[in-house]
Amino acid sequence: MNHVKPVAANRLPDLLRTMPKAELHIHIEGSLEPELIFALAQRNNITIPYSSVAELRQAYAFTNLQSFLDIYYAGASVLLKEQDFYDMASAYFVRAAADNVIHAELFFDPQTHTARGVSMDVVINGLHRACVDAQAELGVNGSLIMCFLRHLSEQEAFETLEQALPYRDKIIGIGLDSGEVGNPPEKFARVFARCRELGFHLVAHAGEEGPPAYVWTALDVLKVERIDHGVQSSKDAALLQRLATDRIALTVCPLSNLKLCVFPDLASHNIKHLLDTGLAVTVNSDDPAYFGGYMNDNFTQTFVATGLQAQQAYTLARNSFEASFIDASAKRRYIDQLDACFATFA
Ligand code: HPA
Ligand code: ZN
Repeated sequence: MNHVKPVAANRLPDLLRTMPKAELHIHIEGSLEPELIFALAQRNNITIPYSSVAELRQAYAFTNLQSFLDIYYAGASVLLKEQDFYDMASAYFVRAAADNVIHAELFFDPQTHTARGVSMDVVINGLHRACVDAQAELGVNGSLIMCFLRHLSEQEAFETLEQALPYRDKIIGIGLDSGEVGNPPEKFARVFARCRELGFHLVAHAGEEGPPAYVWTALDVLKVERIDHGVQSSKDAALLQRLATDRIALTVCPLSNLKLCVFPDLASHNIKHLLDTGLAVTVNSDDPAYFGGYMNDNFTQTFVATGLQAQQAYTLARNSFEASFIDASAKRRYIDQLDACFATFA
């Protein structure tokens, strides 16, 4: 669909909500709502340093990525059993379905759990079972991307990969997350080369807080297929050119960028500039329980603040399918669904 009919401003939120879309950047541990954190803490007899849901929510005032990660890892400490991972992912899928997300690629951080004595099979089997049931019960197609924590060593990433190999049929890709500045992609050159040999799809967080140089090395050293965040790329014209030419998707997370003070307000976000430059931008929620919104909140708030229109809604949703790690026939089916939605929207 090359030309999208203009849509009246008061109808745009409806279009954003109803259009089918894929989510490609969601840390499943970042979907743990405070209520579920408390319920799991009670179920597992774990003490957390907050006395109520309200007190926990009040702590969600972040100044940068690290200030968030400290609370995010504390929240994940309530996950112990396979059922906990299942319940967390199932709750996300219900929210995703409500936002007309029909395909989701979920990041998970096994090292956050194995470091506490939770075994890899508990993590992966719980998440995988939630993916299977989401397809059957909600019609949402889910798959898993295992992330290495970049504040840890490459040796520890290798050990994590080893532990995950018995479950490799349940993992479509490998990612890189956690504290970015000071932990450049090239720190993980050898383990990503091994993952590539093994046939995994590759992605990495780069250019969230870190410099354009990290996006370059994610591309040239790690050889990733998508860049998670990547918003700092706008500081480097040659990099923008490279991303556009190679159709490297950026999984942009506007509300995350707002809450982690990457931009002072949503109106200052550079998403429109990135789209106008011809980049394959997508919209995603990152850690929705912490950043104040799931997919449709990200879409509707960003469109209001930056003045994006129906044409860009189509482009963003289409990019999300094009950049997803699904086979060509599934992509075609999803894009047909998207075209049908835009053709009939009035
Ligand atoms: N950046 C890096 N690591 C993360 C994030 C993020 O936004 N969310 C969860 N882990
Ligand atoms: Zn992220």
